[in-house]
Amino acid sequence: MKVTMKKEIERYRAKHKKSMILWKKARQQFPAGVSHNIRDFHMSHFDLSPPFIKKSYDTKLVDVDDNIYTDFWIAHGGAILGHAHPAIIKAIENQLPNGNQYGMVNEIALELADRIIEATPSVQELRFCSTGTEATMYASRLARAYSGKKKIAKVIGGWHGGNDTLFYFVQEVKHGIESKGIRNQTQAGILSFDYNDTQGAIQIIRENKEDLAAVVMEPVLGAGGAIPPNEGFLEAIREETEKNDILLIYDEIITGFRLSYKSAQGYFGVTPDITTMGKIVGGGAPIGIVGGREDILEQANLQEGGEVWIGGGTFSGNPVSMAAGIATLDTLKQGGEKLYSDLDTMGNKLRSKIREIVEQNNLPAFVTGVGSMISIHWFKEKQEKIENSTAIKVFLDKEKVANYQLLMLNRDVLTRGGLGYLSVKHTELDIKKALKAINEATKIIGNDK
Ligand SMILES: Cc1ncc(COP(=O)(O)O)c(C=O)c1O
Repeated sequence: MKVTMKKEIERYRAKHKKSMILWKKARQQFPAGVSHNIRDFHMSHFDLSPPFIKKSYDTKLVDVDDNIYTDFWIAHGGAILGHAHPAIIKAIENQLPNGNQYGMVNEIALELADRIIEATPSVQELRFCSTGTEATMYASRLARAYSGKKKIAKVIGGWHGGNDTLFYFVQEVKHGIESKGIRNQTQAGILSFDYNDTQGAIQIIRENKEDLAAVVMEPVLGAGGAIPPNEGFLEAIREETEKNDILLIYDEIITGFRLSYKSAQGYFGVTPDITTMGKIVGGGAPIGIVGGREDILEQANLQEGGEVWIGGGTFSGNPVSMAAGIATLDTLKQGGEKLYSDLDTMGNKLRSKIREIVEQNNLPAFVTGVGSMISIHWFKEKQEKIENSTAIKVFLDKEKVANYQLLMLNRDVLTRGGLGYLSVKHTELDIKKALKAINEATKIIGNDK
């Protein structure tokens, strides 16, 4: 361990005394101390606790030790309006006296559906569920049933939630399988190709067209590295799937209402057959959406001959998520094109400033992203080009990733994947603070003796 990092670890420990106590308890209650695997934020690497959060507002998270973080993780990317946006809080407050859960059809679910259908090029009908994990599972089931075919091709590094259907080729924990307890990828009928590998994708589609139900992909690779599509990549896959009668599923659980009000499909002008959404559309309350072409969704109409069962979920269409979702979409819509172009401008500016820092210090880091999605990848050696998750995995320097995370937390900036996402609440001051922290952190990583 290098000297500066040792000091930084002690600084962190001193700043997080209460969190450290809670962490001890959490590790007795939850495997690895968490209910979502990534929430230790690499602090286990140092035998430290992640910050326990007690409050959030705008771009800030406050932890139990009263550290106030400028947050670029913003609730897994979901809080595009910032934390605790007044319009969302008001919508939830207005709803609560009328009940927090009906377990019955309700009008506000129609109102949220109206907004999603109107905004999203591919969505003619939809079903609500409670998580993205459910949504992608249902999307796959619809595709398999519609096509009568079994296989599904996905992008290597693409995370579609933890369901048994698509939890393949994410990080490949061991021997081509992500988790004990699920079938191997061949039995599961899952094929893979690298993001931005147009030829590889076309080959998979052509070679398997008789068995291939669908290609499922995020239009922008999200957890796999915030990697945008090369020119023509999305179009080529759309063309090839259409030509071969294979359905195209866009998982827009991150990109939905993030890149534009028409989501990534509107932003890039490529329309899939089925779309999944989550995160932003729930306004911070649990949600999942599977939507798409009417003839595909109508398979779920069991009353009229449909045979695809995709509708369960005690909490599906619950009025709190519906109200929070409506408030979010209405606020985004009121912001108009400007809201999204401002986010794009801020994202571009930030990416180029971070690239300057990386260049000036000659560091083995690589900046990716598009619009308000931004990542910094730490590598063992400098890389000139990163276009897919496989490349990230090969060159990733886990030690630097953990060090960077701790250095940023010590400077009261919360990041994930190097940075994360912007919200409409991020200010020039927030950006300045992040850049200062990145500058200091990267220098330490570059020079630590
Ligand atoms: C692209 C994508 N799909 C699916 C999921 C799973 O969604 P949830 O966490 O709501 O189950 C996520 C979550 O991060 C995601 O990023």
